[in-house]
Amino acid sequence: MRIVSVVGTRPQLIKAAALSPALRARHEEILVDTGQHYDDAMAGSFFRELGLAQPDHALGAGGGSHAEQTAAMLRGLEPILTDRQPDVVLVYGDTNSTLAGALVASKLGLPVAHVEAGLRSFDRRMPEEINRVVADHLSRWLFAPTPTAVDNLRAEGIQDGVVLVGDLMQDLAARVGREVVDAGALRDVRLRLAESSEGIDLEPGAYLFATVHRAENREPDALRAWTALLRRVASPERPVILAIHPGTRLALERAGIRLAPDVRLVEPQGYRTSLTLQMHASAVLTDSGGVQREAAWLGVPCLILRDTTEWVEAVADSGGRMVVVGLDADKAIDALARLSPRDRASELARERTRAFDLAPAGAADAIVAALEREA
Ligand code: UD1
Ligand code: UDP
Repeated sequence: MRIVSVVGTRPQLIKAAALSPALRARHEEILVDTGQHYDDAMAGSFFRELGLAQPDHALGAGGGSHAEQTAAMLRGLEPILTDRQPDVVLVYGDTNSTLAGALVASKLGLPVAHVEAGLRSFDRRMPEEINRVVADHLSRWLFAPTPTAVDNLRAEGIQDGVVLVGDLMQDLAARVGREVVDAGALRDVRLRLAESSEGIDLEPGAYLFATVHRAENREPDALRAWTALLRRVASPERPVILAIHPGTRLALERAGIRLAPDVRLVEPQGYRTSLTLQMHASAVLTDSGGVQREAAWLGVPCLILRDTTEWVEAVADSGGRMVVVGLDADKAIDALARLSPRDRASELARERTRAFDLAPAGAADAIVAALEREA
């Protein structure tokens, strides 16, 4: 089979790293990077760290408005797909790169495979919700990560081509999680403050790890709300380490918002460092889809800085360790007091790492097998 995989953002590079070796073991994969993410810390460094093949085509379509970047991707993809005539066009997740890949391929009559199909927040104000609904309705293969995703598709009348394969990111988290479970991995992380390059030393359980990048959390009111929330949960004994997405950093600068001194801003980190920082944190605060699930797999308390989540099983199965707090600081403080009281945080972090035992989901093999059955 000849497969064109379309990637472009950080989480798509991570997902491709989990699937690409299984595809390439028996098939031809052509990798197209739309360039939606373009900073080295958001894109190039992941190719190197995760051993992903260099893209066969790089579209350089990052930046600009949604229409501008999606249009650049559509224009860039059409001649490549026309020329290569793949058996499958594979798209991941719910970004503008996903939308562009699915749209161009289906207009050319090429079958689309969607990895992470069927997720819904039921909130059409989110750009991701629009992207995933369109991609799902155009796809021939819909690789669902969870039973809820299968149900969501059925509710929209989609049953043909739906395969429950599990979560591709779990395959990678299981492998790398084992490598960073020892506290030595945390000592080896060389973190530096984004502004001054001053080094930061971390002890297990003695910090909170945070990421924020959703479009809704870049609006001025939301920026004020979550920075205030972080200010309230941070303390000198337990600072917040905020690995800042460049788009969020720009939004904070534009709004003239400064972070509290115990909220320590660091550049976007590599994948292994991100998992290490989550693994040994007292708790994780995030609006990221990927980080939510990783925190769940690592067993770390996780406060979700959104009003909804697509990962309902992760929350339901967490035994109360994952809490949808939105931007409500009181809720966040209550959840932290219950899940990770400061005086027991180091002990809890150590107990957790001793208990870490994550199995791979087997999603990569299930996807390749499903494609081979029906291509
Ligand atoms: C995108 C996805 C989102 C996904 C996220 C993963 C869409 C609509 N959104 O959001 O679903 O969760 O990626 O991280 O596709 N920027 C840089 N350097 C970069 C990348 C971005 O400076 O390497 C800045 C630019 O100012 C850019 C802004 O971030 O305009 C937003 O980037 P964009 O790719 O449009 O969306 P994300 O917020 O990254
Ligand atoms: N991640 C990373 N470095 C960071 C923050 C996140 O490597 O500084 C990883 C994280 O571990 C997860 C993925 O990026 O594997 C999630 O991507 P992101 O939050 O950008 O997007 P989302 O999952 O919300 O679409």
